[in-house]
Amino acid sequence: MSIKAEEISALIKQQIENYESDIEVNDVGTVIEVGDGIARAHGLDNVMAGELVEFSNGVMGLAQNLEESNVGLVILGPYTDIKEGDEVRRTGRIMQIPTGEEMLGRVVNPLGQPVDGQGPIETTRTRPIESPAPGVMDRKSVDEPLQTGIKAIDALVPIGRGQRELIIGDRQTGKTSVAVDTILNQHDQDMVCIYVAIGQKESTVRGTVETLRRHGALDYTIVVTASASQPAPLLYLAPYAGVTLGEDFMYNGKHVLVVYDDLSKQAAAYRELSLLLRRPPGREAFPGDVFYLHSRLLERAAKLSDAKGGGSLTALPFVETQAGDISAYIPTNVISITDGQIFLQSDLFFSGVRPAINAGLSVSRVGGSAQIKAMKKVAGTLRLDLASYRELEAFAQFGSDLDKSTQAKLNRGARTVEVLKQGLHQPLSVEKQVMIIYALTRGYLDEIPVEDVTRFESEFHSWLDNNRKELLSEIRQTGKLGAEEDMNEAVEAFSKTFVVSE
Ligand SMILES: Nc1ncnc2c1ncn2[C@@H]1O[C@H](COP(=O)(O)OP(=O)(O)OP(=O)(O)O)[C@@H](O)[C@H]1O
Ligand SMILES: [Mg+2]
Repeated sequence: MSIKAEEISALIKQQIENYESDIEVNDVGTVIEVGDGIARAHGLDNVMAGELVEFSNGVMGLAQNLEESNVGLVILGPYTDIKEGDEVRRTGRIMQIPTGEEMLGRVVNPLGQPVDGQGPIETTRTRPIESPAPGVMDRKSVDEPLQTGIKAIDALVPIGRGQRELIIGDRQTGKTSVAVDTILNQHDQDMVCIYVAIGQKESTVRGTVETLRRHGALDYTIVVTASASQPAPLLYLAPYAGVTLGEDFMYNGKHVLVVYDDLSKQAAAYRELSLLLRRPPGREAFPGDVFYLHSRLLERAAKLSDAKGGGSLTALPFVETQAGDISAYIPTNVISITDGQIFLQSDLFFSGVRPAINAGLSVSRVGGSAQIKAMKKVAGTLRLDLASYRELEAFAQFGSDLDKSTQAKLNRGARTVEVLKQGLHQPLSVEKQVMIIYALTRGYLDEIPVEDVTRFESEFHSWLDNNRKELLSEIRQTGKLGAEEDMNEAVEAFSKTFVVSE
């Protein structure tokens, strides 16, 4: 075999002509300043807003401020090893996290990495954490109930699948408990739950995870946590990670519930980040785009049209108020974005009304069309009755002789309050809720002493389980009330067996 010298030299020439450098200079920059989870880099001229960058020690960052001479980066991890002069590289990608069924039952950080010590998660899919919300044509109006199992919510402020309902209240008013009980109640509802813990104590998150595990709810739940000790960028990203995990299920036709506990802490983390990036502060020192921070998150909740698979993503954002002030900046923002709010009040909580839902200040703007018929029928006027009872109650403290109808209203109101009380981690099926509210609104409880109402209810439910199973399953299957005679007969038959305490 002979080798032609011309041929070889032609080949070499061709190679040299076609040689292109893979690394462009403007893909690598230099850190010029670093501290408090923020870095500035020089030389990343082509970086895009929101692009992921990598520091020379492997820590990732997110490009946030694109300025003339430098770029502001938030550091997603420990920043103490990064020093002035270090290299920082573009990745050309925006941030993605792993998603899919494999994540169920796990506790992850906002980057999708497991933090529960149960080994790596083998996933096959990823999704970018920022993505546009479904458009108008891809949506359908909310028409299926999301049963929380909490009487006061399912009866008074019902939540539909695909809705966004704000849960708002002071600290220690039972907010987290509402979320946990709602998740527990989804065990037979074919629902995927995602609990996003933002800025909470590690021990609190641990407790919540244990509660879910103990009740077998972790199997269909993913917990995303960025605890109080984590750097601000992770707290800021946590809700987006949560909704991204949820979207993966929603676009595959599943029903998803995402709880953000709570968005006040996310807003505070975002404020910290923005001030460090030297963005101009606005009201309460929050940056100007704090509304967009929450609206772009909550708009990703949706009920998809049948053509898109009919999946849904329900969002339960939480906001913590100071001294019950729901007209502060963040609360009013989130109230205006959501489809209603559930207001938990501390004086109700301390007087023993738990869950401490203020019926007057709580609304659900789309939930009514998402209640089953039976519930709509029995609970129709309950909310107004309760609100007028609260008014009368205050006024009745002064007057001594009240007319009969006022007395009757007060009587009924006191029993309504009792019926709507509910213990921790005891979610109730919708058919049992319907039965007890039926008994209440038809006046069957009026003669029962107030202190016996709770016992009446629990004994009634177990009596129904043993003696009128078919009535319960009829409500569950058809969504409608049983025949009036059957319903009345059941309540009357049980009432005869009930012994009033001395
Ligand atoms: N329905 C209930 N019945 C009895 N106790 C309850 C009920 N709901 C909540 N609690 C108790 O009230 C306490 C506070 O509840 P929880 O942690 O849910 O409130 P929170 O508003 O989330 O508090 P934080 O502001 O600290 O996050 C807990 O100890 C919980 O056990
Ligand atoms: Mg809480």
